[in-house]
Amino acid sequence: MIDQLDDIEARVSAALDQAVDLEQLEEWRRATIGRKGEVQLLTRRMGEIGPADRPAFGKRINEIKASLQVAFEARQEALKRSAHDNDDDDRLDVTLPGRRPTLGGLHPSTLVMRRIERIFGDMGFQTYRSPDVVTDQLNFGDLNMPPDHPARDMQDTFYTTDPSVVLRTHTSGGQILAMQEQYPAPVRVILPGMCYRNEQITSRSEIQFHQIEGLAVGPAITFADLKGTLTEFARRLFGEGRGARFRASYFPFTEPSAEMDIACFLCDGEGCQLCKETGWLEILGCGMVHPTVLWNGGYDPEEWSGFAFGMGPERIAMLRHGIRDIRYFWSNDLRFLRQFQRFV
Ligand code: PHE
Repeated sequence: MIDQLDDIEARVSAALDQAVDLEQLEEWRRATIGRKGEVQLLTRRMGEIGPADRPAFGKRINEIKASLQVAFEARQEALKRSAHDNDDDDRLDVTLPGRRPTLGGLHPSTLVMRRIERIFGDMGFQTYRSPDVVTDQLNFGDLNMPPDHPARDMQDTFYTTDPSVVLRTHTSGGQILAMQEQYPAPVRVILPGMCYRNEQITSRSEIQFHQIEGLAVGPAITFADLKGTLTEFARRLFGEGRGARFRASYFPFTEPSAEMDIACFLCDGEGCQLCKETGWLEILGCGMVHPTVLWNGGYDPEEWSGFAFGMGPERIAMLRHGIRDIRYFWSNDLRFLRQFQRFV
C-alpha cells in the first residue's frame, strides 16, 4: 500500500505539469489536494493498513500533500505571470512609433549669454565671474560714484541689513576686481551675472536681470578698438548687414561714453512701434574706462587705457524675438520657455 503512494504521487505530479492555464490548475487542485480530492481521501484508507504500518503511511501522505502544495503554488505563480504577459492590453506593439522622451531645454537667457560669451571668447575675451553681493564701494564708489553722486539715483538699490553691502545693480564693479586680479594688462574679460534693482516690476523692468560686462585694458587702447570690437560683435550676433551706430551718452565710469544701437529688426530702419519710430534699437552702453576707475583697479591712467561695455541679455532676447513682457523670463511658464530650444 505504501508503495502505491509513490505511484500516486508520480501520476498526480505529472498531471500538475499538464495544467496549462489557471482553470485547468484549479481543476487539478480540486481533483487532488482539494478537500474531496484523491490525495486528501487517501487518509480514509488508513483502515486498510495494518496498525504497525499506519504511522509510516500517515507520515508519507503528509509529505506528499506538502510537496504537492508547494508544487501547486509554484505552478500557480508561473501561470499567473504568463497570463499577465499575454494580456492584450499590455502586449507590446512593435509597429507603433516610439514615444519620444521629452527633452529639457536651456533657459532663453542662458542661450543668449552663451552665444555672447562664445563670440567674445573667439575674440580673446575670457569669461570671469564676480560676486552678486558686493560692497557699496565696489558697486558705486570705485566706479566714480561717491555717496552723494546723482547718478546713484539712476539705479534703485537693494541694501542688506548692513547698509554698506548691496546686491549689485550692474556688473560694472567686476571691472575693478578683474583689473586688480590681472596686472599688468592685457585684460580682456567679460563678466556675465545677475543684477538686482529695487524697481516696480512692469512689462519693461524686473527686479532681477542679467548683464554681461566687458572690459579691455592695454597700453594704447582707443575708442577705435571699442568701435571695432563691438561692431564685429554685433555682426556676429545679429548677422551681416545689420546697421549699427554709436551715440554719445553718459556713464560716471566711462569717458567718453556711448550707447550702441542696431537697426530695428522689425522695420530695418523705417520706423515702427518696436523702435519707437526711430529705426534704431539700443543694445548696450559703453565707453573708455574713466581714469579714476583705471586708478581704482590698480592701473595708472597715464600709462594704460581701456574700454568697457555692458549689455542686458534679456533685453537683447526681447528685441530679437519680439518678447513684449520681461516678466516671462522668471515666471517659469513652460509655454514660453519651450519656444527657445535654441537662440536664433
Ligand atoms: N553699467 C551700465 C548699466 O548698467 C552699462 C555700462 C557698462 C556702461 C560699462 C558703460 C560701460 O547701464
